[in-house]
This record gives sequence, C-alpha cells and structure tokens, in this order.
Amino acid sequence: MSTGNIYESITEVAKRRGFFWPSFEIYGNIAGFTTYGDVGVKLKRNIEALWRENFVRRQGFFEIEDPIVNSGKVFEASGHLANFKEHATTCSQCGRGFRADHLIEEKTQMEHVEAQGGDAIKRLLVENNIKCPVCGGTLKEPTLVLTMFQTQIGATGAEVGYMRPEAAQGMCTNFKRCYQANRERVPFAISQQGKVMRNEVSPRRGMHRLREFTIMELELFFDPQNPACHWLKDVESETVRLITEDMEEKGVKEPVEVTVREAVDKKLILTEWQGYFMGVGKRFMQSLGVPPERQQFRAHLPQERSHYSSQTFDHEVQTRSWGWIEVAGHANRTDYDLNAHQKGSGVDMSVLRKDGTRFIPHVIEPSYGLDRLTFVAMETAWEQRDTGKEKRNILHFPRSLAPYQVSVQPLVTKDGLPEKAMTVYDIVLNGGYRAIFDDGGSIGRRYARQDEVGTPLAVTIDYTTMEKGILTLRDRDSWEQVNVHVDELPEKLHAYFRGDEFRSLGPLLQRSGE
Ligand code: GLY
Repeated sequence: MSTGNIYESITEVAKRRGFFWPSFEIYGNIAGFTTYGDVGVKLKRNIEALWRENFVRRQGFFEIEDPIVNSGKVFEASGHLANFKEHATTCSQCGRGFRADHLIEEKTQMEHVEAQGGDAIKRLLVENNIKCPVCGGTLKEPTLVLTMFQTQIGATGAEVGYMRPEAAQGMCTNFKRCYQANRERVPFAISQQGKVMRNEVSPRRGMHRLREFTIMELELFFDPQNPACHWLKDVESETVRLITEDMEEKGVKEPVEVTVREAVDKKLILTEWQGYFMGVGKRFMQSLGVPPERQQFRAHLPQERSHYSSQTFDHEVQTRSWGWIEVAGHANRTDYDLNAHQKGSGVDMSVLRKDGTRFIPHVIEPSYGLDRLTFVAMETAWEQRDTGKEKRNILHFPRSLAPYQVSVQPLVTKDGLPEKAMTVYDIVLNGGYRAIFDDGGSIGRRYARQDEVGTPLAVTIDYTTMEKGILTLRDRDSWEQVNVHVDELPEKLHAYFRGDEFRSLGPLLQRSGE
C-alpha cells in the first residue's frame, strides 16, 4: 500500500484547521508532545465517548480517576522500575540518542526487533553497519534505559515520584476500595481514561508515538476458577483476524479469520473475557470508520510480552501513513499486579469465594491509545476530491463522530439574514447538536471549510427562508442539497443523525456546482 503524502496532507490540515500541532511551537518543538486545537479536542472527546459506550456504559463497569504522579513505591512493586526500559544507543560524534531497535527496523525492514532481545539488538546494529541517522557518526553499544519520567514530590526531594506510564496500576492499587463498592463481587471491571507519560528515547511519526498521551484502559477482575464471560454471546459470531503466537513464530503475515467463539474454543485466545473484549474492540474500531479487513490482532511472542502478561494481542490497524500499527494491547495480566501490590504494600488483595476459600483475582486488560485513534479516525475519513477547479480535502467522519455536526450559515451578511440565521442556530443548539455559526467569506468557501473539518451537515439561510421559512440543507459527502421548512428542522436533524439517507430529508435541489 502506498504511503503517498497523505501523512503530510493530514498534518497540514490538522495544523491549519486546529486539530493538532506540535507543542511549544514558538520555542521550537520537542518531539513527542502534541497540542490539540478546538476541532481536535472535540474529535478526541467523541472517540473517548464511543470507547466509554462500548467498553464501560453497556456493561455497567466502574470508572476511577487516579493521579498522574505516583509514589515510586507503586512502580517498584509493579515491576516497572525494573522492566519499563528501551534499548538506547547514542552517537559518539553528535551525542544524539536513538532507539536501537527502530534504527535496525528502518535499515533492514525487519519488524518487531525489540522482541529479539538485547544481545540480538547489539549484534544487528553492528552487522548492519548502522550509523547515526543525523550525522553519520559511530553509534555506541546499546544500553537499557528507563523510560519513565521521574520527579520529586515536595520541596525536599525526599519522596521520589514517577509519572504513570499506564493507568492500570491505579485500578490495581485501588482494587480493594472498588471491590467493596461493588458489594464484594467479581467479575467486575474498573476503567480509567487519562494522561500517561513515557520518556521515549527518540519518538517518531508524530501522533504515533508521544511522550505524553491519553490512554483508555480497563482491568477486568475475575476468578480463575470461574472464568466464564456472560457477555461472550453478544460478540461470539463476530469474526476476528488473528496472527497467533504460533503464526508469529513462523513469520506468517496473513491472519487467520475466525469467530470469537472459535478462537476461544480452540484456545487461540486463552480466556473468554479476552475474546469478549477483542470482539468489542473490533466493533469499536468499526464505529470509528475502520473496516474489518483493515484490522487484525497480532499475538506477542513471549520475549515481546510485557513483564506482567501471559498472553497479549496487539489490536492493529492498517494505515496509509505507517502500514500496520498497534492501537491497543489486549493483555492477560493474570494475578501478577495484585500479587505484586500485596507483596509491596503488605495489604491483603485476596477475596473470598462462596465456599470460604480465598484467591487473588486475575485481570484481563484492553488498553487503547486515544491519540493514535484520533489520527486513525482522520486518516480513515480522509479524501482529496478533484473538482476540476481545485483539490478539495474532505473528512468523511461518521456523522456522530465529527467535531461539529452542523454548520449554520446566512447566505449573505445583510437584509436580516444573519439575525434569522441566529434563530436557526439556536434551534440546532437546543437540539443538543455540536454546531458552528459560520458567516465569513463566500458560501462556497464556507462549505469547503466545513468539508475540511468534517462537518456533515450545513444549514443555509437565504432569501426564501426570509419569505417562506425554507432552509437549504447540504450534505458533506454527496454535496447534494435539499429544502426543508424551518419548523421541520428538529425532526430532520434527528433523522439525519440517526443515520437516515440524506435524500430522504426533503426535495432534492440541483447538486451544487462545487
Ligand atoms: N497497560 C498497557 C500498557 O502499558 O501498554
């Protein structure tokens, strides 16, 4: 698949229209930090809301909000201080730092080099005669460096703190309180969406790898003697494209397509809960516009897995900018974390079965990266349409996902049209829609502007509105226009955002000459 210059086109629109841009721009950017503008924040929040709908609200799961700065004791116990590391090399000439495995991947086209371990990385760097990509200098032997941000809590420096690199530890350290609030029953899940920080050695590809990003994470706690997931039936006939551990070991690139039920029955996915969340994840990704054939789940080999995991599938999406990328990890964390915190804190993390025996709950975790998904949603929605007169950028977001759902615009800024348009704008706002009032420039330029931020519906107020109350609705995707009476607007908006055909809303006008 050609990468073309779609990445450059999208990032150009992102900066110009206010989706996102590099942070601290006026001082020169530091790689790995992004600032969201108005439409970017709205898009990101809408994706987060869809995540919550799919993974939290329907199941009645818990949410918590935990600090970003954590006591060092948390990560000492969890194993992150010992394991959350990358293979870094520095240039002996210019002093710049790089991820050694990424340099090898760039030079050799090999994939997942990190999984091969430190000795292989050292050898591959030398064997492939890899030099500093900036100045061509000789690279030093790679070493493992901790990629967590460290800070001091309070003025004395006596208490060392770390920025959390995942939200999951919050769900585990607060497990007992949430368990009590859940009337001491498992299975149940605790979720959290929020900022996490990873001090990446050399982040690349903008939104793909950030040093500060938003994670949407859920820990499902269950009894390993009673591992049934009572919602599995909801997704069991959903097909998932899997690259299993065995296939990954053999270098197979084409996934096998199985239903969630088959994958669980054949033990390709080891627990029902993990199968359930993978099925939910597939649907969630479809609701962002990503079709099934551009999704797959790739198993980690044992040496690639995080220190806490017994089985991990990356949920991968095929992008035009970067090829297949990970947007989520679905991990079986066993009882690793609760055990670790029991040991670290001395607090008993076990719970009681009905038969009086005690056990430490096991954990299944789906963990989605929101910033990557924001980019994926934009790339999936992207079209550059040649009108013969210009190349028009259009973001075909699903209607409910778009940053703004409706733009309201007077045809001209005289003869009372702006005032009338404001009354229509109020009707749209009162319907609960995200709406924008746009009265700047020619009507054609305004349509183009809304296409570029992905606003699905435009409502135009013209002289017929003043005379007869007739509005023109214009559809972003087809550029078709229909007439509706202002009194009908609330029901027409409702029909459109419930998914009705645009053409069914009213009499079709001639297609605009854009
Ligand atoms: N909790 C998932 C991760 O750290 O990537």
